Amino acid sequence: MPDNLTLNIASMDERHDGFLELLARLHACEKADFLPLFETMIEQTREHFHFEEEMMHRYDFYGRQEHIDEHATLLGEMQYFYEKSKRMPMMGRAYINDYAYEKFKRHVINIDSQLAMFLKETGRTQEQ
Ligand SMILES: [Fe+2]
Ligand SMILES: [Fe+2]
Repeated sequence: MPDNLTLNIASMDERHDGFLELLARLHACEKADFLPLFETMIEQTREHFHFEEEMMHRYDFYGRQEHIDEHATLLGEMQYFYEKSKRMPMMGRAYINDYAYEKFKRHVINIDSQLAMFLKETGRTQEQ
């Protein structure tokens, strides 16, 4: 994973790797594959966020509301650009090429890292 985004919580790192793989495929894909891959990215992100939110509820994580709110914002944006790109493919491409990675990176560094630290401090590094 680039930019030291590894959190050393395997279940989170696997999901983050999955996102980056899909993003790389979206960068390189043919026109006909763009929307289906974009839709897969939304579904995968929904699962990824649900997984983290379920853990935060289970362990009553102190920062969970901020984290859940940010998930809702990120997913909402992704869906907004997906819908736009049905009529205006350039908007979807711009989101994927210029925006999605920075958004993801900031979330991992600023928000997911707090959850990862909490899991380590409370001995829950093996969470699946
Ligand atoms: Fe995450
Ligand atoms: Fe998250």
